[in-house]
Amino acid sequence: MDTGLRKFIFRDLQTIEGYIDPPDALVFLSLLRAQKKSGLEGGIAEIGVFYGRSYFLLKKISEGDRILAIDLFDLGQTPDAASTQYARFIANGRRLGLAVDEELVIRGDSTLMRADEITRKVGRTRFFSIDGGHTLQHIAADSRLATDTLADHGIIAFDDTFNPAWPEVTVGVADFLRDRKDMFSTFCMTKYKTYVCRNEFHEFYLNAIAKAPDLLAFDHVETEFLGAKVTRLHNPISRRMVYELMVRSGMRALSERVYR
Ligand SMILES: C[S@@+](CC[C@H](N)C(=O)[O-])C[C@H]1O[C@@H](n2cnc3c(N)ncnc32)[C@H](O)[C@@H]1O
Repeated sequence: MDTGLRKFIFRDLQTIEGYIDPPDALVFLSLLRAQKKSGLEGGIAEIGVFYGRSYFLLKKISEGDRILAIDLFDLGQTPDAASTQYARFIANGRRLGLAVDEELVIRGDSTLMRADEITRKVGRTRFFSIDGGHTLQHIAADSRLATDTLADHGIIAFDDTFNPAWPEVTVGVADFLRDRKDMFSTFCMTKYKTYVCRNEFHEFYLNAIAKAPDLLAFDHVETEFLGAKVTRLHNPISRRMVYELMVRSGMRALSERVYR
C-alpha cells in the first residue's frame, strides 16, 4: 500500500468540493499503478473537472504525466465577471502543491471537441474519465471522443452509472457497449462508476483489480454485464457508516484505517 497517496486520498482530497469518494479513488490509484508497472504509457484526460477533486487525484498519482482537464468552467459566471469555478480550480491546485498546467486545460463544450485537440496535447490516452454532461447526448459524444483518443490499453471510467438521478448515463453506457461489443467490455463496477477497456486488455485489468493491495478491503463480487465478466467492488453499508461517522466527528486522519 502507498501510505503517502492514501493520506492524500483520505485527507487532502476531501478538502476539495467534488464527487470522487475514497473507493473510486483507490480504484484509480490501482489501475494507474498497474499500467505503470507494465509499461503501459499514455496521456490522461478528464471531461467534467468541477473544482478538480478527481483531476488532482489523477495529478497526484501520475506526477510527471500529461493530464488534460476539459470543462465548460462556467459555474458562477456572470456577464460582467470571470468564472468563479475556474478561479477556484486554479487556487485548489496551488493550495495542494499541484499547480494546474493551464496549457493542458480546454475550456468549452466537450460535445463539440475533436479527438486530435486532445491527442495533440497529451498523446493517446491510457485513462479517460467521463464526468461532464449527464444526458444521453453527452454520453454518446463524450464516449466517442474518448474512444478516438484511447491507446490500445486505455481505460474509460464512466461516472454516475446506475445512479437513478441520472438515468440517461446508464443508457448511454449500455448503448456504447452494445454498439462496440466487438471492441469494448466492462471489467469493474463500483457504486458510482463503470470501468471499460478494449477486449484484448479485459483479462489484464480484471487481474489488476483482483491483485491490487489497495482494494483488498472490498468484497470482490463476480458478475456479468452485457456479456463481459465484471468484478463488482462491494463496499458494505456498515463500513460506509463507520467512515461517515469518523469523518463527521473530526477523525478524518484515522478514517483511512476503515479501508485497509
Ligand atoms: C459532476 S461535475 C464533475 C465532478 C468532478 N469530476 C469531481 O471529481 O468533483 C460535472 C462537470 O461537468 C461540466 N460539464 C457539464 N457539461 C459539460 C460539457 N458539455 N462540456 C464540458 N464540461 C461539461 C460541469 O461544468 C461540471 O464542472
